[in-house]
Order: sequence, then C-alpha cells, then structure tokens
Amino acid sequence: MPSFNIVVLPGDGIGPEVAAAGVEALKAIGEVYGHTFNFDEKLIGGIAIDERNDPYPADTDAACLAADAVLLGAVGGPKWDLQPKRPEQGLLAVRKSLGLFANLRPMDVAPSQAFRSPLKEDIVSGADMLIVRELTGGLYFGKQTRTETQATDECLYTVAEVERVARVAFEAARKRRNKVTSVDKANVIETSRLWRETIIKLHKAEYSDVELEHALVDSMAMHLVTRPKSFDVIVTENMFGDILSDLASVLPGSIGLLGSASLGATGKGLYEPIHGSAPDIAGKDLANPIGTLKSVSMLLRFSLNLSKEADALDAAIEAVIAAGQLTKDLGGTLPGSEVTKAIVAQIRAGASVAA
Ligand SMILES: NC(=O)c1ccc[n+]([C@@H]2O[C@H](COP(=O)([O-])OP(=O)(O)OC[C@H]3O[C@@H](n4cnc5c(N)ncnc54)[C@H](O)[C@@H]3O)[C@@H](O)[C@H]2O)c1
Repeated sequence: MPSFNIVVLPGDGIGPEVAAAGVEALKAIGEVYGHTFNFDEKLIGGIAIDERNDPYPADTDAACLAADAVLLGAVGGPKWDLQPKRPEQGLLAVRKSLGLFANLRPMDVAPSQAFRSPLKEDIVSGADMLIVRELTGGLYFGKQTRTETQATDECLYTVAEVERVARVAFEAARKRRNKVTSVDKANVIETSRLWRETIIKLHKAEYSDVELEHALVDSMAMHLVTRPKSFDVIVTENMFGDILSDLASVLPGSIGLLGSASLGATGKGLYEPIHGSAPDIAGKDLANPIGTLKSVSMLLRFSLNLSKEADALDAAIEAVIAAGQLTKDLGGTLPGSEVTKAIVAQIRAGASVAA
C-alpha cells in the first residue's frame, strides 16, 4: 500500500480548524483509494513563539525537509503584532528552507456560483485563472535599512530567478488554455525591465507555442475586475503577485474558497489556503474549510502524483457547494466542521458510484 509522509502545520487562529479538515479529507481518501498518509503535526507561527520562542523551530524544519508534502493552516494574530518575533517569519522561513519559489493560486468562478461574486455575474461567470507568483525575490527578501528619518527596501531579481518561475507559468499554460500574461512595471522599474526581457527571451527560445502578453501592474489591477475572463495564467514578481492574488481572491465571493501551492525544484510543496488566521472567527467553527481542501487537492496532484484522488476531492467540493451546504461566509448556516463532513461523505459516495 503506498505510504506518504505529510507534515501538518496548523498554526494560529482558524489554522488548526482548517488544517484538521484537510487531515480528515486525506484520511477518507486514504481509506477509499488504499493509501496510507502518515501525519506529523508540528509548530509554526505564533503558537511556536509562545511554546518555543521561535516561529519556526528546528524540529519543524527537519520534519518539513523530510516530508513528501507540507499542509499549513495559517499563522498570525493581534497577540503577536507588536512583538519582535513575528509569526510570519515562520512562513518565510519554511518557504526558504524548502526552496519554494513559485506560488500557484488558482481562481475560478463556475457559472452556477457567479451570483456569489461582489462583481456583476456576466463579468465573472466562467472566469478561470491561475496566478503564479514569484516567492523568493524582490522587495520582501531584499536588504532593508532604517534610520530615524528614512528607510529603504532593496528589490533584487536575477535572470535565473525570473526564468525558473516563468517556466512554471509556461508549463502550466500548456496544460490549460495556453496563454500567459506577464505582469510588471517595466515603464518605471529596472527589475521589471529585466523581468520582461527575460520572459520574452525564454518565450522565444522554448515556449513560442504559448500565447504571451505583457501588462503593467497598475492596469492589470483594473483588468482583473473589469475583464477577469480574459486571463489564463498570470505570472508576476513577489509583491505584485501578493497584491493581485488577493484582489483576484474576492472574485468567487469568499477568500475562504481558495487554496494555494508553493513549489520548488523538487516535487515537494507547501500547501495552504490563501486566507489568514481570521482571529475574528477563530474557535467558533465558522471557518470555511474549502480553501484548505482545494490546497489538499493540489497536494495530491503536484506532490503525490495522485490525480484521480485530487479529481475526486474537487468533485466532492463542487457537489457540496452546488447542494448549498455552506458556511456563513457564503451565505450558509453550516459550521465549518459540518461542511467538511459533507465533503468527506461525498468522497465516499463518489468512490462507491465509481465502483
Ligand atoms: N498565510 C498566512 O498564514 C496568512 C495570510 C494572510 C494573513 N495572515 C495573518 O492572519 C491574521 C489576520 O489577517 P486578516 O484579517 O488580514 O486576513 P484573514 O484572511 O485572516 O481574514 C480576512 C477576513 O476574511 C475572513 N475569513 C478568512 N478566512 C476565512 C475562512 N476560511 N472562512 C470564513 N471567513 C474567512 C475573516 O473572518 C476576516 O473577516 C493577521 O495576523 C495576518 O498577518 C496570515
């Protein structure tokens, strides 16, 4: 029986609630499809600061490095906001240690669900995009300086960093609708000019079969809300990707619906919902587990090569949404744990129909 080692990092706020949902779904998939998932739960974020005075303890790092995949809930909360050690340092540390350079955030709005969007239905209905965000370079990792009266943040990109994330985007586009939109600010910023030149060269050399267009980040912010259906794969640098992917995340109607995968050069990945620790609803069983379950689907697909199982989980999620078994953020009345139960029941029901 195939066996996989999954490290689970519940973290803070609603993190433990949604991570538990992910574990439940994986257990059901293991039982139905005959796989063994070994779970190893470790500390990260605020709880790790509280218990170990370190947002990313060494034993967490060792376990993540040895695992087949890592499932994360969320980190952070007001309790740690003014402390010198920050929960988010744990997140940056795990990404760095695992060499994760590409963050994939799929976002789609099924026509039957378009009414949930804050935008007009005809604008979002059928939108289906994948945002590929560079994760290790740019302003978030550059040298920082600070005096009483001024501060600087260095923005650094190398050709190799741009090429490797662009490859992820071009390869993904080939499996989707074969179009890449590269987002930069090449009219003003030097790293963006390097970004654009590198993408153009790589496209010409290796991916000329894929349609490529370029957009400036400011106009892209407008396009994402005025014509989101025109995009397939979007690739961009770290900070632009951070902002644009949050913008795109509201299109389906709740941030609780979306998952993400962070991938490196090996098959190993970190999978997490795109939302934060939502301290306002933590401990109330109100958290929507679907973003985490979509992340689990990517974990199955990208790190464990279990596409059939990922398809089954996606189908179970869709069935539960279509049946209106929803948490409060989507206008429903169910606790998060009941939505998870409904999805697990669908996984089992789907498997018995297939058999
Ligand atoms: N990757 C991460 O771990 C991550 C990402 C973003 C923010 N954060 C941290 O999370 C904390 C809270 O940040 P925030 O409030 O800006 O963002 P957030 O995503 O935690 O919450 C934003 C809003 O969305 C709601 N929400 C989020 N997830 C939901 C879910 N699954 N179901 C239902 N509703 C959901 C929340 O209740 C809140 O109203 C901060 O400390 C922040 O630094 C962590």
